[in-house]
Amino acid sequence: MAKNKAVVVGALGVIGRKLIEHLGKLGDWEIVGLSRRGPDFESPATYISVDLLDRADAEAKLAGLTDVTHVFYCAFQARAVWADHGPPNLAMLVNAVEPIERASKGLRHVHLVQGNKIYGSHLGPFKTPAREEDPPHMLPNFYWDQEQWLRAAQKGKDWTWSALRPQTVCGFALGNPMNITTCIAVYATISKELGLPLRFPGKPGAWNAVYQVCDNQHLANAMTWCATDPRAGNEVFNVTNGDFFRWKNVWPRFAKFFDMEVGDVQTIKLSEFMADKAPLWDAIVEKHGLQRIPYDQVAAWPFADYVFGTDWDVMTDTLKLRLHGFHDCLRTDAMFDRIFQEFRDMKVIP
Ligand SMILES: NC(=O)c1ccc[n+]([C@@H]2O[C@H](COP(=O)([O-])OP(=O)(O)OC[C@H]3O[C@@H](n4cnc5c(N)ncnc54)[C@H](OP(=O)(O)O)[C@@H]3O)[C@@H](O)[C@H]2O)c1
Repeated sequence: MAKNKAVVVGALGVIGRKLIEHLGKLGDWEIVGLSRRGPDFESPATYISVDLLDRADAEAKLAGLTDVTHVFYCAFQARAVWADHGPPNLAMLVNAVEPIERASKGLRHVHLVQGNKIYGSHLGPFKTPAREEDPPHMLPNFYWDQEQWLRAAQKGKDWTWSALRPQTVCGFALGNPMNITTCIAVYATISKELGLPLRFPGKPGAWNAVYQVCDNQHLANAMTWCATDPRAGNEVFNVTNGDFFRWKNVWPRFAKFFDMEVGDVQTIKLSEFMADKAPLWDAIVEKHGLQRIPYDQVAAWPFADYVFGTDWDVMTDTLKLRLHGFHDCLRTDAMFDRIFQEFRDMKVIP
């Protein structure tokens, strides 16, 4: 049987990178990754370096992709102001999908990664657990723009689409603006080096609030299911590990993993207090023979400030995904242990 051919758009991100690894292990996928940078690691994919904000560049580089069966869209452009996310993120989706669709007559599915911010999970308290049919927060919202475009683009076509809405995706990637696991690991490592206990740097309300996350391997499994199971065709699904937690309950386990005392809550802005720690990080790297990853590539503190500042419950209802046929789930506390151990094995942290 002919292999499926996937284009993973946003190939080096915390989501795209794991999806490529996952599809590679499945063995029946030919994989092409799109991003501006190229990989500096072994990969089962071939990569095309393309700036998707540049339509001409996208047209030129993607016209040769004539046998693509599946597009997985997980690229992202961060902007300082929420309302400014729309134009670049919609343009990148359109500039990726349109040329591929034109060239690949056998296209079967386009999968879009969205997020809980469509419900306003980043703005303050919102209706929980949020369901897929809930209306979005007061627009603009770039996930909404992307979904409306994709719904319209698919009308009358042979291919189908799907979208997943994860919360706080956990796993390894470098130089990305949203990665809570690398932030926790680097924060703990630096606290330990300074002889400090592992304090919770967020708000007291965040320590106690209900939260949820999504493992990037679990997300890769769900994305693959969405793209290949007809029951997911033209549907949107929330996706998380399947459980909820409070930081106050997982924090002692983090302290145990890093062999540290558990500290109290002491609210600090990590983007401010971790800003001067590059020399200390470099010294830790030297002392423990770690990978020489530049400090600004290994942790993006504004995202940690945002996650640990979320002093309201973040809960989505994930029953729709299960009721449609995807049943995988995992325990979040065990996931954190596994991911921190992966960072250790990769010599990212001591
Ligand atoms: N991370 C999370 O916790 C999380 C949670 C929920 C939802 N999401 C959503 O999931 C989606 C993917 O997020 P992510 O965290 O995986 O993103 P990410 O780690 O920042 O990765 C983004 C990818 O897009 C590529 N990219 C950015 N600009 C590009 C351009 N102009 N042309 C081509 N490629 C470009 C980047 O590679 P280059 O820089 O090399 O181009 C990178 O491979 C986003 O919609 C995000 O909102 C993420």
